[in-house]
Amino acid sequence: MRPAFGGIDFGTSNSTVGVIENGRPRLVALEGDSVTLPSAIFFNFEDNSTALGRRAIGDYTDGVEGRLMRALKSVLGSSLAHEKTRIKARSIAFTDIIGLFVHHLKERLESHAGEAVENVVLGRPVQFVDDDPKADAEAQAELEKAARKQGFKHIDFQYEPIAAALDYEHGVNREELALIVDMGGGTSDFSIVRVSPERAAASDRKGDILANRGIHIGGTDFDRLLSIAHVMPELGYLTPTKDGKRNLPAGYFIDLATWQRINLLYTPKAMLDLRQIRFEAARQDLVDRMIEVVEQRYGHALATKVERAKIALTDGDEAEIEVALPGAKFAAALTRQGLEDTIRAEVGRVTKTVADTLAQAGVRPADITAVFLTGGSTAIPLARRSILSLVPQAEVVQGDAFGSVGLGLALDAQRKFA
Ligand SMILES: Nc1ncnc2c1ncn2[C@@H]1O[C@H](COP(=O)(O)OP(=O)(O)OP(=O)(O)O)[C@@H](O)[C@H]1O
Ligand SMILES: [Mg+2]
Repeated sequence: MRPAFGGIDFGTSNSTVGVIENGRPRLVALEGDSVTLPSAIFFNFEDNSTALGRRAIGDYTDGVEGRLMRALKSVLGSSLAHEKTRIKARSIAFTDIIGLFVHHLKERLESHAGEAVENVVLGRPVQFVDDDPKADAEAQAELEKAARKQGFKHIDFQYEPIAAALDYEHGVNREELALIVDMGGGTSDFSIVRVSPERAAASDRKGDILANRGIHIGGTDFDRLLSIAHVMPELGYLTPTKDGKRNLPAGYFIDLATWQRINLLYTPKAMLDLRQIRFEAARQDLVDRMIEVVEQRYGHALATKVERAKIALTDGDEAEIEVALPGAKFAAALTRQGLEDTIRAEVGRVTKTVADTLAQAGVRPADITAVFLTGGSTAIPLARRSILSLVPQAEVVQGDAFGSVGLGLALDAQRKFA
């Protein structure tokens, strides 16, 4: 019998699991009928249960007492990875929290396969950590350890944009020189790959992969920048102290705007510091809002509102973020132009990475015949425009924004394990 295998795309924002069924890649249902699972975990303090995905976000939104965690992948390779976080009376390492998530994905994979699955290809960004090969290797090792602890025995890794290329290749009927663009929640990854139905059958594809590059910038960074520029000032960020000599310290505001750092505010020490900051502030009314947001454990709700506004600005020109807590009532109006001004520099760095990918491949932009787009952040008009302007003649192919990588990982796992 052939060994059972699967592909797992553990994403910063969403995860998927790919399998091969009747010779074709498909995604496994992970939550109800949904094939995507938001990469979120909620530790319920009321009944000590743990929820994942949409249910985790729902419990938190419903006001259940507990702790929500998102963007866990961004912790891999960072100093936070080795820290433990307090979950009520327990203290849990971040990597074990990632393990809980992997456990669920494996369980869904096995329930689909009807047997134990020990073979897996895990997706990985081209760089977990920018320009730090040691931290990057640690990030992969941490993810591998988490997967091994859950019972996977044969674990292989594939770059996410190469997985996306394999998914794209599955649908082409002639040879293409493709630029693969995967802009997700945490990273933006690119590859330049020669694909064709004939090449798909070859066992060694090294010669077809002309370049592979990535940068640690994604949708969660755009959320952070949007929050810092348009929401945090409403909570006192960048306002002066009473004596007018300096601005309030920025750290806690930046933590509140950063998905994977929000929970760092929920400590007695942070609350003491915030009260001290309030004491020194010229605009105590604004810092009162900050304190209310933290006391009400409203950080993820606020970040979700920022993310929603960002997404609304993909199709619309205006969006509003409204907060109506008893001690913090305010609204921030956003425009498409304001979003673009806020993220322009980071989008520029992403676009430069695409240009570097083309240079690394040693091909002229005009040689690229197709651009394959996947990842939620490729929907952002500014990002799309900037990247596509580098290869204006290429045909634009829209992939499954949230599923291409998982499907491609299944194809890769088939080559490696079947
Ligand atoms: N219509 C949209 N407009 C703008 N951004 C969007 C849209 N839809 C989703 N996003 C953003 O896309 C990101 C999630 O994309 P995706 O699911 O591809 O990421 P991921 O695979 O989890 O992350 P990564 O691959 O970086 O680890 C989020 O930041 C989300 O806000
Ligand atoms: Mg992704």
